[in-house]
Amino acid sequence: MATPKKILRALAGETQKTPPIWMMRQAGRYLPEYRASREKAGDFLSLCYNPELAAEVTLQPIRRYGFDAAILFADILLVPQALGADLWFVTGEGPRLSTITSEADFAKLKPADAIHDTTAPVYETIRLLTRELPEDTALIGFAGAPWTVATYMIAGRGTPDQGPAHALRQANPALFEALLDRITKATILYLSQQIEAGAEVVKIFDSWAGSLQGDDFERYALEPCREITAALKAKYPTVPVIGFPRGAGDKNIGFAKATGVDCVALDYGLDATWAAANVQVDGCVQGNLDPSHMVTGGQPLIDATRAIVQVFSKGPHIFNLGHGITPDANPQNVQLMVDTVRGA
Ligand code: CP3
Repeated sequence: MATPKKILRALAGETQKTPPIWMMRQAGRYLPEYRASREKAGDFLSLCYNPELAAEVTLQPIRRYGFDAAILFADILLVPQALGADLWFVTGEGPRLSTITSEADFAKLKPADAIHDTTAPVYETIRLLTRELPEDTALIGFAGAPWTVATYMIAGRGTPDQGPAHALRQANPALFEALLDRITKATILYLSQQIEAGAEVVKIFDSWAGSLQGDDFERYALEPCREITAALKAKYPTVPVIGFPRGAGDKNIGFAKATGVDCVALDYGLDATWAAANVQVDGCVQGNLDPSHMVTGGQPLIDATRAIVQVFSKGPHIFNLGHGITPDANPQNVQLMVDTVRGA
């Protein structure tokens, strides 16, 4: 049997001399070839729903940098859209959605099992990728965590403090929890179909986990992630799950044990030495270079990259940024990071 892919070995708990590497938002606007494909598609959502072009942009960073993993090109907001929310992107600003603030809004949403009508092209993208990816490159599927997805569905846009979602959680907890539950059920079905189509790893992005405090973190970040992971593990026990509770700080401690995920993705706000001692003790971690190095480059990039590799070298580690690469990044700096990690 061929040696398992590097990232699967890390996720199984193996400490490697050189960590596997991929990058959040690796297919994106910093790459000229991405911008060309997006123009061809017309707009961002048309790109997400065009399997040939979505597979093409997924492959672009693999061709350029030979990353150890490809991440499906899609978006966490496809799930709300599949549940019946209106979704559009305003250039230069970000996503807009119809809002859910009342029982009447919630009643208009589709049942969880209706999502595949809309998300079918995403599964087709994955099937194309399983045929086109190099044999040592793993394919990562993903979804947003229910809390993060709910913050967009409630506010109808990204918000600095997730205020509207917190307000609904306080004013109408029953409605808030019903929404979270619908998203959780849809996410289990969505990720299951991604795995059926060929995703070898799945990642749950909880980009706004950091705004949940105390018991609310347990109920609305930990618990939905645990429920999704348990449902997937029951059906697909060998498929690893990566959790990303961005901004969770100290609550990264014990996150893997509490949720059942195989790996915790660390944001760049976390001190790597602290994370090695407190989070990597429980298993694989991913991260956590500050993405601004992809803009600024030079010796500071090299030093920071080496430091992260070094600090996590005593346990299982997947090298990554601590959040997505930004559109103003220089593609040459990405190459410098890859070469530094691989010791060139
Ligand atoms: O990582 C990858 O390369 C895979 C594809 C991917 C995208 N979005 C493509 C995308 C993934 C994994 C996501 C996740 C995502 N989407 C998250 C969670 C991760 C995070 O960044 O915290 C969130 C919160 C979203 C929602 C979203 N999508 C926002 C807020 C925006 C607008 C902000 C921006 O960067 O423009 C998007 C758009 C988006 N999703 C783009 C890409 C490549 C840019 C769209 C474009 O081409 O204009």
